[in-house]
Amino acid sequence: MNNWTLLYEDFKPSMESLREALCTLGNGYFATRGTSPESEADEIHYPGTYLAGGYNRLKTDIAGRVVENEDLVNMPNWLLTKFRPEGGDWFNLMTVDILSYRQELNMKEGILSRTVRFRDRQNRETTLIQRRFVHMANMHLAALEITIIPENWSGRIQILSAMDGTIINAGVERYKQLNSKHLAPVKSGKADNDIIYLLVETNQSHIRVAEAARTRVYIEGEQIEVERKPVEEPGYIAQEFFIEAVNNTPVTIEKIVSFYASKDFAISEPAQDAVEALRHTGNFKELFERHAMEWNHLWYKCDIQIADNDRTQMILRLHIFHMLQTVSRNSIDLDIGVPARGWHGEAYRGHIFWDELFIFPYLNLRIPVLTRALLLYRYRRLNRSRIAAQEAGFRGALYPWQSGSDGREETQQLHLNPKSGRWLPDNTHLQRHVNAAIAYNVWQYFETTEDLEFMATYGTEMILEIARFLSSLTSYNREIDRYEILGVMGPDEYHDKYPDAEKPGLNNNAYTNVMTVWVLRTAIKALNKLNPKRRYDLLEIIGLEKTEIGQWQDIIHKMKVVFHDDGIISQFEGYNELAEFDWDGYIKKYGDIQRLDRILEAEGDTTNRYKASKQADVLMLFYLFSAEELHELFKEMGYDFDPQIIPKNIEYYLKRCSNGSTLSNIVLSWVLARSDRTGSWNIFNKALESDISDIQGGTTHEGIHLGAMAGTVDILQQCYTGIAFCDEMLHLNPKIPEGLQRLMLKIKYRGNWFDINITPDALAITSSKERDIITKICFREKIYEIKPGDTLNFDIKV
Ligand code: BGC
Repeated sequence: MNNWTLLYEDFKPSMESLREALCTLGNGYFATRGTSPESEADEIHYPGTYLAGGYNRLKTDIAGRVVENEDLVNMPNWLLTKFRPEGGDWFNLMTVDILSYRQELNMKEGILSRTVRFRDRQNRETTLIQRRFVHMANMHLAALEITIIPENWSGRIQILSAMDGTIINAGVERYKQLNSKHLAPVKSGKADNDIIYLLVETNQSHIRVAEAARTRVYIEGEQIEVERKPVEEPGYIAQEFFIEAVNNTPVTIEKIVSFYASKDFAISEPAQDAVEALRHTGNFKELFERHAMEWNHLWYKCDIQIADNDRTQMILRLHIFHMLQTVSRNSIDLDIGVPARGWHGEAYRGHIFWDELFIFPYLNLRIPVLTRALLLYRYRRLNRSRIAAQEAGFRGALYPWQSGSDGREETQQLHLNPKSGRWLPDNTHLQRHVNAAIAYNVWQYFETTEDLEFMATYGTEMILEIARFLSSLTSYNREIDRYEILGVMGPDEYHDKYPDAEKPGLNNNAYTNVMTVWVLRTAIKALNKLNPKRRYDLLEIIGLEKTEIGQWQDIIHKMKVVFHDDGIISQFEGYNELAEFDWDGYIKKYGDIQRLDRILEAEGDTTNRYKASKQADVLMLFYLFSAEELHELFKEMGYDFDPQIIPKNIEYYLKRCSNGSTLSNIVLSWVLARSDRTGSWNIFNKALESDISDIQGGTTHEGIHLGAMAGTVDILQQCYTGIAFCDEMLHLNPKIPEGLQRLMLKIKYRGNWFDINITPDALAITSSKERDIITKICFREKIYEIKPGDTLNFDIKV
């Protein structure tokens, strides 16, 4: 097995839309699903091309009210290229006999290819080879090459090379009752003999998107002229032509496409620039060379290698590949966040969630300039978040649970339970913990890069305003002399209110409360990092008084955390009063119960009544913090923290979790890593299968789960290596599972690259010479120094 290639050796109609998502090609600016070029949206296929951050809002009258959603818009389908022998049927895999089939996503070079041998109804046998890439170095370009080899026939072949902007957003079944027509045609036409273009505009956000296509024909490598017939209707343009094909002689159609949007930098007008770009662009082979070179450079620093397990290695690379295709150097000036489902489909509408928490650690340690850009997406929406806080009666900045174009709350007001057919209120916006995640991300970025400039200009202001919001979210309970947070949701989305309550929200979600304390302490730390003048100015700008910081101290010391059963951290106040759930009974009845919320709602019941979680909630604390850090946090809050409560809580919540979110397995594998290496490795392997095997009950075709993809990579990167950053030191403490015989990676820490090589017995770390600084390494509580160019070796058996 080649551990660089995702390979399919058969055509399975029922798997096609999943493969389309997994074979998406993108470059951090735009992405195109791995749909076969001849296909349009039908029961099997869903072509999708998405501009990073290309959103549009539409209203829909549904279930007696008007709801508004902001969607990631499906842009014109540039892939569309059909062929047929003159007078025959347009090529369609469903109507021919497939003699052989091979689809390969080559991740090393970022190219998708498909080779099919087929026999049509007239007994003509043909080999078809399709190859494509979305250019990683030149973000505006993509290329498709189709080679047709008649094997037992000669004759004319008709080709249709099109761009279709008449499409709608139809990639998610649950959204189908919502308005979905986002694009309006603007103009289209022929620019040169072989270049056509199409300009469309989103009908609310007025983003103009232009695509241009240059189609050329080659016979045995020689370019030939063909007579092209234009086909045009509003929002659609194509060229049709015939080629004289000769038995056993390959005919190649090359379609080079450019993609521009009115939001782009360094352009005049998208259609003009799209056409112009093609006039200066080489052929498929020339473009590919530079594209492959870019991937080669990326892999040099971004690969993580393991030994002896090709499938695991391949999936890890697939996860890295999709991360790098979703956000890349091309994304830096785009003012985008990193979407939970990639730009690979329409689920969650391309929105940005707390999933960044799982994604940034990988980027921080390789392309920190990118994390910086992604954090700026949040900074630019700080004012919008200040307004949101004010409107909700709080101070500071309240970031939305789901974020899109302008930073307002984009969580849908109603969601459909496909099991019951009912539209239900969506209360997930009460997940205020997303704010803590943003502060955490800013701080982690700083810890790994030491980018004080960023902190002084943007980062500290964000952390302070989030701290301010979270402190205003607390209320003081005089009776117990403690602060509480009422009416929120934790990460576990199965609980959005008390069983018989009218109003949504839960009290004292432990994760939110502890994170609040962490944010308040970090805000004070961050402030102290600034030079006195900047500190003074910032306090003046945001009007933060000493008394407010004094109150933060009080909250830090008196935050409430609820416990039950002698050391179990209650997920929220009252959790212990909920009924135990009949896991065995439901598994027997339904098999897959990951989406227990939908099952119970359809039965007229609710997950709110049970000790049953969709995903890790309390366990997030052990995911984000070491035992020492938690000990310190709990001590500050005035609670004892016996490290023994960690395994106790893990055992307790593990049993009560349905893993209805792909993020959950990441957390579970992580928290088990030290106490149950085999258990951790098994769950890690399950998490690896999330998308490639679509274990979430068929959701991957609507978009990959980027948090889970990044999370698996981060388990190798930070969890099994014990890499952590605090006190200005790089901490290492590997404990690798038996299934791993070797782990090799590069990380960038505070300007220097480090090569890390781990086997079950030994750890070696080598520093590069980028920055002439000595780095402090903490290995099992002892501090060492490493100079540029040096290697440190540790025995890890003992
Ligand atoms: C999970 C959230 C996650 C979201 C986007 C939901 O199913 O419960 O934690 O942020 O998906 O990935």
